[in-house]
Amino acid sequence: MISPSLFLPCAIFLTPVLRALAQSQSFAWDRLTPSENLEWVPCHSTYQCARLLVPLDYSDPSVGNAALAVIRFQANVSKADYGGPILFNPGGPGGSGVETLIPRGPEFHLVLGNQYDIVSWDPRGVSFSTPIASFFETDAERALWNAASFPTSLNASDDAIPHAWGRAHIEGQLAAQRDTTQIMKYMTTDNVARDMLRITQKLGFEKLQYYGVSYGSFLGAMFAAMFPDKVERILIDGVVDANAWLNANLTIAATDTDAALQTFFDGCAAAGPDLCAFYKPTAPEIAERLTSLTDAVRREPIPAITSQGYGLVDYSLLRMVIFNALYTPYVSFPPLAEALAALENGNGTSLYLMLQDVPFQCDCADDTVPFTANGAEAAIAIQCGDAAPVEDSIGQFTEFYQNAAKTSQFVEFFVGQNRVSCTGWEVYRNDTFKGPVAAANTSFPLLLVTNTADPVTPKAGALKMAARFPGSGLLTQDSPGHTSNVAPSLCTAFYFRQYFQNGTLPEPGTVCSVDATLFGASSNLTSRMPSPTTEEEQVLEALKIIGAVVKPVIAGKFWRT
Ligand SMILES: *[C@@H]1O[C@H](CO)[C@@H](O)[C@H](O)[C@H]1NC(C)=O
Ligand SMILES: *[C@@H]1O[C@H](CO)[C@@H](O)[C@H](O)[C@H]1NC(C)=O
Ligand SMILES: *[C@@H]1O[C@H](CO)[C@@H](O)[C@H](O)[C@H]1NC(C)=O
Ligand SMILES: *[C@@H]1O[C@H](CO)[C@@H](O)[C@H](O)[C@H]1NC(C)=O
Ligand SMILES: *[C@@H]1O[C@H](CO)[C@@H](O)[C@H](O)[C@H]1NC(C)=O
Ligand SMILES: *[C@@H]1O[C@H](CO)[C@@H](O)[C@H](O)[C@H]1NC(C)=O
Ligand SMILES: *[C@@H]1O[C@H](CO)[C@@H](O)[C@H](O)[C@H]1NC(C)=O
Ligand SMILES: *[C@@H]1O[C@H](CO)[C@@H](O)[C@H](O)[C@H]1NC(C)=O
Repeated sequence: MISPSLFLPCAIFLTPVLRALAQSQSFAWDRLTPSENLEWVPCHSTYQCARLLVPLDYSDPSVGNAALAVIRFQANVSKADYGGPILFNPGGPGGSGVETLIPRGPEFHLVLGNQYDIVSWDPRGVSFSTPIASFFETDAERALWNAASFPTSLNASDDAIPHAWGRAHIEGQLAAQRDTTQIMKYMTTDNVARDMLRITQKLGFEKLQYYGVSYGSFLGAMFAAMFPDKVERILIDGVVDANAWLNANLTIAATDTDAALQTFFDGCAAAGPDLCAFYKPTAPEIAERLTSLTDAVRREPIPAITSQGYGLVDYSLLRMVIFNALYTPYVSFPPLAEALAALENGNGTSLYLMLQDVPFQCDCADDTVPFTANGAEAAIAIQCGDAAPVEDSIGQFTEFYQNAAKTSQFVEFFVGQNRVSCTGWEVYRNDTFKGPVAAANTSFPLLLVTNTADPVTPKAGALKMAARFPGSGLLTQDSPGHTSNVAPSLCTAFYFRQYFQNGTLPEPGTVCSVDATLFGASSNLTSRMPSPTTEEEQVLEALKIIGAVVKPVIAGKFWRT
């Protein structure tokens, strides 16, 4: 299983997150008694934790309950200025809201305003919420399966697609056999939206204030469609096309993937050889250099033995590292360029370490702990359960894949793997909310945010969703990467605050530039911001720390949005 922390792009972000992981493991969620109300106890020094009981099936309480792990970072203002709770979802699906919020409460305050309680939670079936979704009976069983099915590019070999399809059927059957708690049956996004309403009500509010990124955008849109009169604020960033999601056909998601890759070539050429180790004088030459390297690695994979593990840098691993870097270009492009240059010289260490598999350690005492990391299983259960059943044969899936490959050269991971996972899925309900994920008349307009070259949630998807919520605002950030968070922008942060604090939407057509450059190249940034104020500097730092939320892969095989 791949440790999510290894996907964090930069050492300065690593520290708080590792601390958070250690802290979340040290807090004994299982000692809290789940309650029908939010009974907060102090946790992680400056946070509060509670376990909230919610019905698995809102229309049939006899099915049983889930206990949601909920966490709060409280407002820091006088009562008169209090702005209520903002619920946050980090995406995935299957991302842990608890682990995301723990080190970042102060940063959320800096960006959104400290008059808000920042509230997050592990969605039903995920992480510290119980029961958990799991295909496996022990962590060792999960680790063995994940190691054996370490993701390959669907373009790695002739049997890559048949294998992926076959493995999805094993996972689907395991899930169906082992869903004794029925959590996987009930963890679809419509129920997560119902949970958001319940949390809001238990906090004493009627309407939702919400900030969701990536998959969290689909959750926000579902809420708005299901409860249009319960919207106080919904800001969604990295917007998923709901129709694509509900059809397990994310082809549209690849619309801007190649444009994101192009920014690597353009940025490297502009930055020069000192800042970009994979430099050539023009972008086409850099593209050509990468193609040659990829072809060479396909013919002759490079063994990498490092102090932190060992393996082959082969076609799949190289492609995956490149694709993943597109999520977080501002921090990932410089080390990617260095790793590519080293690989050219036959040294695969750095590239391997960009996607390293943490050796599994059998801590047998852990098997008795009810909470475990199950991001990939949760993601598959949610995404495939949300969608209409996918009954593709291998041949039909191959056709789907080849059609998607017309949109981008990178469909072998996110677009391809996520659909193929659903071909084997068996756990469906017949009463899920089927849409349309749209509302003519939400009680407050939504704010949608999109980047100009997002590798998995392109502007095309945001435009479709904006059309489904007439009156909503659309803010464009002029940057590559997945969600606006991955590039600090005071302009974007300003519109976030305007929306939450004053209810103001950006003018149609508003485009924010970012306060960062690819490869750290010099630019007109300094002339635009001659001397940022202390507050502006704090906000920029906070944005970087929140941006480190974005991680492409869950447990090695499922690509997040
Ligand atoms: C806000 O937080 C600061 C620093 O932790 C603290 O000194 C201050 O008393 C807090 N203010 C309120 C109104 O809670
Ligand atoms: C698969 O890889 C080959 C060789 O690298 C490349 O020419 C082709 O475009 C790729 N096909 C797909 C569908 O990604
Ligand atoms: C998936 O969506 C794309 C457009 O985004 C479409 O061309 C394709 O036919 C769809 N595939 C299936 C199997 O529905
Ligand atoms: C390969 O690269 C790593 C990381 O930069 C370095 O520590 C190591 O010494 C290199 N190995 C060789 C054989 O040059
Ligand atoms: C839906 O599922 C329930 C139980 O899972 C079943 O009783 C009911 O007949 C199903 N309805 C339809 C229309 O299939
Ligand atoms: C939209 O909301 C307004 C004001 O709340 C209400 O008067 C109107 O009937 C609503 N329209 C629809 C189509 O629900
Ligand atoms: C909100 O509006 C008030 C009053 O017009 C203004 O003083 C404040 O700066 C605005 N806040 C933001 C974040 O724009
Ligand atoms: C800086 O701004 C000037 C004038 O607006 C423009 O001509 C120039 O291309 C910009 N330079 C960069 C590196 O963006």
